[in-house]
Amino acid sequence: MFQTNFLSRDQVVAMTGEHGSPLFVYSKAKLIAQAQQLLAIPAPFGLTIRFAMKANPHPAILEIFKQQGIQIDASSGYEAELARKCGFRPETILVTSQQLAHNLQDLVPAGIDFNATSLNQLEQYGRAFPGTSISVRVNPGIGSGHSAKTNVGGITSSFGIWHEYIPQIHELAKIHGLNIVRLHTHIGAGTDPAVWQQAALTSLRLIKKFPTATILNLGGGFKVGRMDDEHDADMGIIGTMLAQEVQKFKEETGRELHLELEPGTFLVANAGILVAQVEDIVNTGKNGYTFLKLNTGMNDILRPGMYGSQHPISVLNDSTETKDYVVVGHNCESGDLLTPVAGNPNLLQARKLNKAAIGDLVLIGGVGGYCASMAAHGYNSFPSAAEVVIE
Ligand SMILES: Cc1ncc(COP(=O)(O)O)c(C=O)c1O
Repeated sequence: MFQTNFLSRDQVVAMTGEHGSPLFVYSKAKLIAQAQQLLAIPAPFGLTIRFAMKANPHPAILEIFKQQGIQIDASSGYEAELARKCGFRPETILVTSQQLAHNLQDLVPAGIDFNATSLNQLEQYGRAFPGTSISVRVNPGIGSGHSAKTNVGGITSSFGIWHEYIPQIHELAKIHGLNIVRLHTHIGAGTDPAVWQQAALTSLRLIKKFPTATILNLGGGFKVGRMDDEHDADMGIIGTMLAQEVQKFKEETGRELHLELEPGTFLVANAGILVAQVEDIVNTGKNGYTFLKLNTGMNDILRPGMYGSQHPISVLNDSTETKDYVVVGHNCESGDLLTPVAGNPNLLQARKLNKAAIGDLVLIGGVGGYCASMAAHGYNSFPSAAEVVIE
């Protein structure tokens, strides 16, 4: 049975007594432990770790990372504003957005860094702020993600400026007197480590075409193991590889590159659990399935129904019997499925869980990232689950 490694059963019961359920519980200790693994990367010419705050912009989580010296990757002008409200200095925020930030006129003079993700964004920025420094996101031609929906590199991706258009980037920079100081690549969430490494090496080749760039930002995408048979990316191995490559680059070119990484998932995913309750139990006859209906669902956790992603689930009772259940959410939508076939949100998969009764508490793990922040909030007018951070 999946057990949270930061909360005892008595604490779960006490916390739901106090805050109700469904309830997201985040562990400060786990957040700090993840941050420290990244901050230990031995980059020879400087390291910045940015938190991709889209993963979980809860102010208490932002505060914890701020205290660790972690900076911000913001995906919109709104996220940048929220980060500033939470006390991040403007110069610690980098905006990388699909839609040009609506408040660029406030953000740039205040000192935030802007990363152009298309030629049009570069042109618009150049017209508004000629003669300034700029960062560019390039699509390096390869991508990888835990699902096609999280792959943001290669020809199927609209993210970043296609690598063959580097001459056009230089042309626009020249017209507007822009100094390109950072090359940014991010190829997906939950990437294959081999493809990630290949993208990092490709990015090091690409940055040779940006002689004024002093910062290489390789995005996020590091895997975490949510289920027992999955493993976290080994940041020790990845960090050593990056440090060696940046050193090699210095020997070849004389250039000392400051390294940036901006993970979301790796920092938060396994620092969160969702405590829910069995609301109902129904079955579809002897050739059918038994369904556990929870008092949460796609309005709090959308990843299983969207990607077919797997989250550990356990029923918190003393039953010595187990039973196969399909776990579903409380929304009026057959796609509100918490136990899909891995990678296929359209197919349901029964899981062996403790024999359950209506009212039992249920734990869902691996929900610290892209759950509270990426759910179908407001659907069926259900209120969103409360969120608490524990010491
Ligand atoms: C530009 C950028 N950087 C970083 C991330 C973080 O990715 P992950 O949560 O997989 O680390 C994302 C996620 O989509 C992103 O779009």
